[in-house]
Amino acid sequence: MTQPLRIAIAGLGTVGIGVIKMIRQNAALIEARTGRTVEITGISARSRDKDRGISLSGYNWEDNPVTLATRDDVDVFVELMGGSDGPAKAATEAALAAGKDVVTANKAMLALHGQPLAEQAEAAGQVLRFEAAVAGGIPVVKALTEGLAGNEITRVVGVMNGTCNYILTRMEATGQGYNVLFDECAQLGYLEADPNLDVGGIDAGHKLAILASIAFGTQVDFDAMELEGIQRITLEDIAQAADMGYKIKLLGVAQLTGRGLEQRMSPCLVPNTSPLGQLDGGTNMVVLEGNHVGQIVLRGAGAGEGPTASAVMSDIIDIARGTRLSTFGQPATSLTSATPARAVTPAPYYLRMKLMDKPGALAKVAAILGDCGVSIDRMRQYDHDDEAAPVLIVTHKTTRADIDAALAAFATTDVVHGAPVTLRIEEL
Ligand SMILES: NC(=O)c1ccc[n+]([C@@H]2O[C@H](COP(=O)([O-])OP(=O)(O)OC[C@H]3O[C@@H](n4cnc5c(N)ncnc54)[C@H](OP(=O)(O)O)[C@@H]3O)[C@@H](O)[C@H]2O)c1
Repeated sequence: MTQPLRIAIAGLGTVGIGVIKMIRQNAALIEARTGRTVEITGISARSRDKDRGISLSGYNWEDNPVTLATRDDVDVFVELMGGSDGPAKAATEAALAAGKDVVTANKAMLALHGQPLAEQAEAAGQVLRFEAAVAGGIPVVKALTEGLAGNEITRVVGVMNGTCNYILTRMEATGQGYNVLFDECAQLGYLEADPNLDVGGIDAGHKLAILASIAFGTQVDFDAMELEGIQRITLEDIAQAADMGYKIKLLGVAQLTGRGLEQRMSPCLVPNTSPLGQLDGGTNMVVLEGNHVGQIVLRGAGAGEGPTASAVMSDIIDIARGTRLSTFGQPATSLTSATPARAVTPAPYYLRMKLMDKPGALAKVAAILGDCGVSIDRMRQYDHDDEAAPVLIVTHKTTRADIDAALAAFATTDVVHGAPVTLRIEEL
C-alpha cells in the first residue's frame, strides 16, 4: 500500500486552521485523487493554549518550528507563519536541509529570498511550492508554470491586494474618503499588522515579483519594483476618472522589454468596461498574456481561510501525486538576472491639474505638452473654484520621461496651481 504523506504545519492562524479543516473534510477525495492519505504528524504556533475553534489534541506539538521542520516523521513541512525572515525562513531552510519538501503561503519570504531558497531546494532534490502566496485561491502559479508553459509570456497584469481594491471601490460607491475607509478596513480586520504592506502596495508588489520570475525566467527581484501605494488617491481623482470612462486600480504590471524587466505596482487608470475595471470589492484578478494563447483572465478570492487553504492543498496534493516541478518553473540556476527597466513602455496618461484663472493659461499648458512631445487626446475643464479651475487631460501614448519633462516645465509657469496628479492609463 502507498505510504501516507506526512505533513507538519507551522502556523495555526487563518490559513493553517483552514488547511487542517480541509484535510479533515475532504480526506476521502484527497485519497481518491492522490492514491494515498495525507496525515498531519505535527503542528506548531506561538501559543499552545489558544482556542483555535477546532480540536488539535491528536497532533504532536512542537514549540519550535525548526524542530518541527526536521522531525523524522515529516515528509512535507507546511510553513504558514508568515514574515520574510525569522522563524519562517529558518524553518524553511532547516526543512530543506533535512530532506523535506516545503509548501508555503509566504509571499514576503519568496519575494525577498526566493532565489537562494529555490537553489537550496533544487540542489537537495526537494520541492518548494507556493501557490497560496499569490492571489490566494486563484491558481495563477499553476497557470503560469503548467497551463501556459509553452508560451512566451508577454505581460502579467493584476489587481492582487483585495484591501486596496475594497478601499478604492468603496470610495467610488459611497463617496467616503480614503481615511474613513482605511479606518473601516482596520475595524473589519482587513489590514495587515503593518498596514503599509497593503495600502503602500508592498504586499501586492511581493506577489507581482514572484509572478514575474515565473513568467520571464528571471530571478525574483522585488527591490527593482517601482512601487507606489493608494494613499494619495482622492475622491476627486476617482470621480473625474469615472467621468472620463476609467476606474482607478492599484495595478501590477510586469513585462520584459528590450531594455529590461519592467515591474511596477501603482495606481493606474483602466477602462471601466475592461475586466479589471469591473472588478469590485476584495476580489483579485490576474491577466496573463502569452504569445500563442492570447489573453487569460483569472478572477477569484485573493485571501481568506477557505480560498488560501485551497491553494495550499493543491501544492500538498501535487507532492502526494509525485509531481515535482522546479520552484519558479525552470531550474533556479538557469533563471537570469534581468536588468531592471523603468516604465519606458509608452502609455496614455491622465493629468489632473488646477489652472489659474488667467488669460492664455490653457494655451500655455497645451504648448508645454506639445514642446515635450506629449499630444492631447481629450481635455475637460470644470467650473472655477476660487481662482483656479480643475482641468483633466488624457494624453495619447507617451513616455514617463516626456510627462516628467512637462511637469517640470509646468512648475516654472504661473498658470498651474500646485503639482498635477499624474496617473498612467493601462490599456488592456
Ligand atoms: N490570511 C490570508 O488570507 C492569506 C492569504 C494568502 C497568503 N497568506 C499568507 O499565509 C501566511 C499565514 O497567514 P495567516 O493569515 O494564517 O496568519 P495568522 O492568522 O496571523 O497566523 C499566523 C500563525 O503563525 C503563528 N506564528 C507566528 N509567529 C510564529 C513564531 N515565531 N513561531 C511559531 N508560530 C508563529 C501564529 O501563532 P499564534 O496563533 O500562536 O499567535 C499563528 O498561528 C502568511 O505568510 C500570509 O502572508 C495569508
